[in-house]
Amino acid sequence: MRLKKSDFKVGEKKKIIINGKDILIIYLGGNNFYALDSRCPHLGCDLSKVGVVIREELICQCHFTHFSLKDGRAIKGATKNPIKLYPVKIEGDEIEIEVK
Ligand code: FES
Repeated sequence: MRLKKSDFKVGEKKKIIINGKDILIIYLGGNNFYALDSRCPHLGCDLSKVGVVIREELICQCHFTHFSLKDGRAIKGATKNPIKLYPVKIEGDEIEIEVK
């Protein structure tokens, strides 16, 4: 799936469907794009609605689990299950997200 970097504002989150999966894309400025499963690995809350980004952590407000956007690890909270991250490649204005 290819998207345009210029379609995102800094701090923006967008949910898109890639290969039948709900993928949440988070843009933190520069070339810092993150693509992850939009379903929380704890009890499945939709992170596009209840996820809040603070620095490089995504917090699920259902039960306040903190996930690292760098590696998906659950840092603290209701689960130790990591969040699934997908590789993002950036070339010029194009963003490529690989979801298998
Ligand atoms: S569903 Fe996200 S922390 Fe419980």
